[in-house]
Formats: sequence, C-alpha cells, structure tokens
Amino acid sequence: MTLRVGIIGVGHLASYIVEGLCAANNSPDILLSPRNAERASALSERFGVRTANDNQTIVSQSDIVILATRPPQALNAAADLPWRAEQTLICVAAGISCAGLSAVASPARIVRAMPVSCAAIGESPTSLYPDDANARRLLTRLGPVIALPDEPSFQAASVIGAYYAWIYALVAETMPWLEASGIPNAAGRSLVLQAIRGATGMMLAHPDDSPADMIRELATPGGISECGLELLEQRGALSAWRDACQVSLARLQNQ
Ligand SMILES: NC(=O)c1ccc[n+]([C@@H]2O[C@H](COP(=O)([O-])OP(=O)(O)OC[C@H]3O[C@@H](n4cnc5c(N)ncnc54)[C@H](OP(=O)(O)O)[C@@H]3O)[C@@H](O)[C@H]2O)c1
Repeated sequence: MTLRVGIIGVGHLASYIVEGLCAANNSPDILLSPRNAERASALSERFGVRTANDNQTIVSQSDIVILATRPPQALNAAADLPWRAEQTLICVAAGISCAGLSAVASPARIVRAMPVSCAAIGESPTSLYPDDANARRLLTRLGPVIALPDEPSFQAASVIGAYYAWIYALVAETMPWLEASGIPNAAGRSLVLQAIRGATGMMLAHPDDSPADMIRELATPGGISECGLELLEQRGALSAWRDACQVSLARLQNQ
C-alpha cells in the first residue's frame, strides 16, 4: 500500500521536502495543510500532491505526519487533532521537545528531525531522534539520515541546520571577490562551488583523516593557503564559527 504522508505547515521547508519525496521512486501519497493556500496549490500543480480541507483530515488520513510550522506555532498546530498510536509524528520545527510534542500529540509516536533545503535534491543530512524505522525509511528519501542517541545531542546536531546556511554565506562572500578580480560570474561560481564539493568529497573519502591534518598537508609553509589561514585566525574568523554554533544552540534551548 502507498505510504500516506501528511504535512502540517506548508512553507519553505515543506516545499523542499515535497520536492525531494516526489523525486524519489515510489513517492508517497502526500496531503498538505490548507493554510498557505497559494504555496499548497503551486505544489499540487507541480507534483500532483493533494491539499486537505483541514488539519484534522491530515492526521486522520496519514500514516506519517510532518509538522513543519515555525517553532512558536508547532505545539498549537499539533494540538486537538485525532492522533493514533500506529502513527508517527515527525516534527521538523527546531527546538520543540519530545515531551512538549507528546503532551499534545499522544498516542502518536514522536520523532524529531532536522532536514535542510537540499532535501529537494536528495542530499539533506537529516538528524533524527529517537531512531524510528518508519521515519528513517521516509527521511532516507531526502538524503542520509543520522540518528542521535539522546535529545540533548539531537538539539546540538540541529545547529548543523544553521551551519548549512552559513556555507551559503561563505560562498556569497567569496563570489563577489572573484568577480571584482575580473573572473566572469559563471567561472567564479563554478570554481567556488566545485571547491566546496571537492573538499567535501575528499573528507568523505578519507574518514580516518582529521580535517586538521588535511589542512596541514594543504597549507604549504609560506604558501597562499597558510597566509590566508593566518589572517583568518588573527581576525577570529575561524574561532567565531564555534561561537556561532554555541549561540545557535543557546537560541534553540531558549525557544
Ligand atoms: N527553512 C528551512 O530551510 C528550514 C531548515 C530546517 C528546519 N526548519 C524548520 O522548519 C520549520 C518551518 O520553517 P519554514 O522556513 O518552512 O517556515 P515558513 O516558511 O514560515 O512555513 C511555516 C508554515 O506553517 C504555517 N502554519 C502555521 N501554523 C499552522 C497551522 N496551525 N496549520 C497549518 N499551517 C500552519 C505557516 O502559515 P502562516 O505563515 O500563515 O503562519 C507557514 O505557511 C521551522 O520550525 C524551522 O525551524 C526550516
């Protein structure tokens, strides 16, 4: 039987998830909440997914429900709906605890996940807690799923959702510099993006090598990598990344 997936909260992330799920073979039967009618109807047109009349219908007609509202809306959106014990609720709203979700969506099985926009192309590194076979099967269609052993580590892993956005910021900072240096836009874009893909590919291909050791091999003494790294260190640009991770975690914890 085709898996029935409902989505409550049809915004940016839900759109990426729908695109990813519909790109995979054997895509599930997807039912969207009606609140963001324009986006739901665009998704219906593009992927043939359906829109429900209300959130009650989503819960009563789905095997898995993805809760994808903004965090302050999540618990209200999940409350007073006809949850069933054999159903899985996957909450992708950042910072919402399993205990809070259980209080409003019991007896459904509660799972937290943190996919990112590259779910649309099946590349999302999605953290998951607790591990759940149904959730894992579904989310694997969006990219590699990484289950975390407990809720605090899931919360810390959720910061990777922000780190993923900062990678775009790094690209956005580097591309204009190339352009200002006379490199055509398409060539600059390709160089910057392939450099990130290549570095990622090398680190994935050599799981036993630490990135710190790999940098030492790249940064020839007196060479251009070394002098740029020294400047980044002097200005705190690298240690600031750790601080940014910490500030993001604090934001999640105080949501
Ligand atoms: N954007 C990302 O790439 C990303 C990545 C990782 C995680 N997340 C998480 O995903 C969640 C959604 O983010 P987003 O960027 O997609 O937000 P978004 O674009 O604002 O989408 C949220 C949608 O949920 C709707 N909504 C609110 N209450 C609802 C209800 N009771 N029933 C049905 N729909 C309801 C909102 O409608 P209104 O606008 O009318 O309120 C809005 O259309 C957030 O919690 C965020 O932490 C997002």
